[in-house]
Order: sequence, then structure tokens, then C-alpha cells
Amino acid sequence: MITELAVFEKMSDQVKISHEELERDGFCQNPFFECLIAEVSDEHRSKCGYTVVGYALYFYTYSTWKGRTVYLEDLYVMPEFRGRGIGKGLMCKVAKVGTEKKCVRLQLAVLDWNSPARDFYAAKGAQDLTDSEGWHFIRFDGPSLDNLVKEAPKD
Ligand SMILES: CC(C)(COP(=O)(O)OP(=O)(O)OC[C@H]1O[C@@H](n2cnc3c(N)ncnc32)[C@H](O)[C@@H]1OP(=O)(O)O)[C@@H](O)C(=O)NCCC(=O)NCCS
Repeated sequence: MITELAVFEKMSDQVKISHEELERDGFCQNPFFECLIAEVSDEHRSKCGYTVVGYALYFYTYSTWKGRTVYLEDLYVMPEFRGRGIGKGLMCKVAKVGTEKKCVRLQLAVLDWNSPARDFYAAKGAQDLTDSEGWHFIRFDGPSLDNLVKEAPKD
């Protein structure tokens, strides 16, 4: 489903992670992420035979202004199971798990052309920070990350 979401987002070539890395990072002593899955009974399985039909992958981050934050990295429901409350259920459960851990925010990024998802979040009361506060989403990886490491001061 990670690949299916990347295909939907028109960036499938960017999926480089392996099963081993996901297992290492999600199922170690201090996991880098947590994940909820949506599962249907065997009689309702997908046309391809799957019973796991959606997922929400999230992790914890921190705001120096507000404190504990849960970050929703991926939210995905297989096309044939959409519009039945599964996506909402996953997102609400992430919010519940986060607030039980004293998170005061749930944050995520969504592509500008993904109007259905943007409408879905807006309908649930989310604020679009790019519109309201002008934030840009910044990333260092590959050579730009290597360069930062090379320029790090010696201890
Ligand atoms: C976005 C996505 C997770 C939503 O999951 P879903 O199971 O189809 O959505 P739900 O059936 O739970 O809908 C929940 C609510 O959102 C509303 N909603 C769903 N799509 C909507 C839309 N396009 N516009 C406005 N509201 C919408 C539903 O009416 C429902 O409202 P209600 O709670 O008042 O009844 C799913 O469509 C998906 O996987 N899309 C492709 C991947 C994607 O875009 N992921 C998000 C990337 S940031």
C-alpha cells in the first residue's frame, strides 16, 4: 500500500525503502514510526484477495511553541474501500492515540493537486498552514545532506 500511495501521488520512483528497513525501523526497541491498519473480514476481502485495506503511518515530533505533536506521514485506503468511513476512522484513531500521549497537534503534508484529500482534511477542520502562515516544506537528502554532514563542526 505504500507503493500504491506513491503511485497515486505520481512519485512511485521515489520509493526506495525495503521491507527489511521498514521492519527494522518500526519494530525495534524505540520505533521510528507506528502504524494502524484497517482490516476487513475474509468475506469482504479486496478483489485481489487482501483483507488489510488501508493504513495510517505516523510518528512523534515536537513543537517548541506547542509541545508534543503527532505527524501523519501516510494515510491510504484502497480505492474499492473508499467513501465508507475507513480513512476517517484511521485518522481519528491516530488523533486519539496521539492525544493519549499528550500530543496537542496532528500535522501532515498533502500535495497541492490532491483536492479530494485536501477537502477531506478541511472538512474535518484542518488548517492549511501554507495558505494561512506561508510555511514551506524543506528537505535535505542525498548530496545536500552529505554536504551538511561534511561541514559539521568536529566535536
Ligand atoms: C483520503 C482518503 C484516505 C480518505 O479515505 P476514505 O475512506 O475514502 O474517506 P472516508 O470514507 O473515511 O470519509 C470521511 C469523511 O470525509 C468526507 N470526505 C471524503 N472524501 C471527501 C472529499 N473529497 N471532499 C470532502 N469530504 C470528503 C466524507 O464525506 C466523510 O465525511 P463524514 O465524516 O462527515 O461522513 C482516501 O480517499 C485515500 O486513500 N485517497 C488516496 C490517498 C490519499 O490522498 N491519501 C492522503 C494523502 S495526504
